[in-house]
Amino acid sequence: MGDIRERPEPVTESITITDNRTGESIEIPITDGGVSASEWSKLLPGIWFYDPGFTSTAACESSITYLDGEEGILRYRGYPIEQLAESSTYLEVAYLLLNGELPNAEQLAVWQHDITHHTFIHENVRKRFLEGFHYDAHPMGMLVSATAALSTFYLDAKDIFDPVSRDKQIVRLIAKMPTLAAAAHRFSVGMPFVYPDNSLGFTANFLSMMWKTAEPRFDANPALARALDVLFILHADHEQNCSTTAMRVVGSSHADPYSATAAAAAALYGPRHGGANEAVIRMLGDIGSMDNVEAFVESVKRGDGGRLQGFGHRVYKSYDPRAKIIKRTADEVFEITGKNPLLDVALKLEEVALSDEYFTSRRLYPNVDFYSGLIYQAMGFPLEMFPVLFAIPRTAGWLAHWQEMLEQDSKIARPRQLYIGAEERNYVPIAER
Ligand code: CMC
Repeated sequence: MGDIRERPEPVTESITITDNRTGESIEIPITDGGVSASEWSKLLPGIWFYDPGFTSTAACESSITYLDGEEGILRYRGYPIEQLAESSTYLEVAYLLLNGELPNAEQLAVWQHDITHHTFIHENVRKRFLEGFHYDAHPMGMLVSATAALSTFYLDAKDIFDPVSRDKQIVRLIAKMPTLAAAAHRFSVGMPFVYPDNSLGFTANFLSMMWKTAEPRFDANPALARALDVLFILHADHEQNCSTTAMRVVGSSHADPYSATAAAAAALYGPRHGGANEAVIRMLGDIGSMDNVEAFVESVKRGDGGRLQGFGHRVYKSYDPRAKIIKRTADEVFEITGKNPLLDVALKLEEVALSDEYFTSRRLYPNVDFYSGLIYQAMGFPLEMFPVLFAIPRTAGWLAHWQEMLEQDSKIARPRQLYIGAEERNYVPIAER
């Protein structure tokens, strides 16, 4: 891995900024749409860029994913997400993200073989870690912990600058995520562990581990496996989102990839990131019927109904391109599983919101989470598994960014702060407080 393409010629302009206090000016190049903060700091020593939430900060250079939020464009390594969802597979996309190019037939066969033959987890990971959790443990908490635990099983993972070791850990992580995920689910519902069936493809194998003996309708169903594979493609990467940033930040300290991936998965666990599709299902359930949609939208506008879950995005200011594809996938899945009864409420909610000035003026459109939960629910996944279903495919994206960051020889992530606390003061003994 690591066969990253040549960087395109940067587009370079410049701006001149003047410090009004001193009259001093400095010319700063604008490269690829950004200005270097360290160049800027030459004029303003001791003055920090204040940007909580990183809304105006590019934290790195990357050649993995292109995202245009104004136009609703998403491309992996230059390939439009629509084409990849239509014609590719998740494993092919994972290879693309990690290597920069689509694999040829031989490369794909080797990659699939390698992934397939690393799906098993060590017996102690299963018996001591996964089966050691409390009976009602959340599967995402189990996944985060088990991923971190893997670093204690593969000590060679510490050799992050050995390309052979790095490739091996990447394969192991992508391959073992579905096994850990299915094991976490089965434990959380009191079902026995199912070993991987390596005669199956990546996604069918996951469905088999999830549903064997529990839900024969869904066990390795090829049409459902394809639909889930499309969802995995759509979730594989999304440039510098919260969890990928966590991956890069932890990776920048040269932690091993299992620890960094566990940190990324922990970031994904939060309801503002990987938990939004669960919130959508709860919201649709609370609305209950199409007749209640308009009143609910009014309550959102008044501010007493919470946010319209699955709407709005930090970057997309138009329809999320993934949401368009997911809507089509939903129809295909519902043909097999039967329609999710909440779909009509969702469609009506979208229609009402998109014709309302509150949402259009703020450029709030359905995001990837608005329909994905409906599909997962129809496929039998409990709500607790939704963030887990996000973490499985995003692992490829996290690892692609981790690898890119190491190849860029980047500095350790270490921002500064604007201190707003107390001035120096003397310690007061407890009896005098
Ligand atoms: N419902 C109602 N109003 C909203 C919503 C919403 N879903 N999202 C934003 N707004 C309003 C917000 O109240 C604010 O209005 P005003 O200017 O009058 O104060 C304005 O739109 C801008 O909101 P913001 O909070 O500054 O926007 P942000 O970029 O910080 O937040 C977001 C982005 C995704 C956190 C937010 O849109 C949201 O909470 N959406 C619902 C949760 C959701 O669907 N999350 C999944 C995101 S996609 C998955 C992923 O990439 O992880």
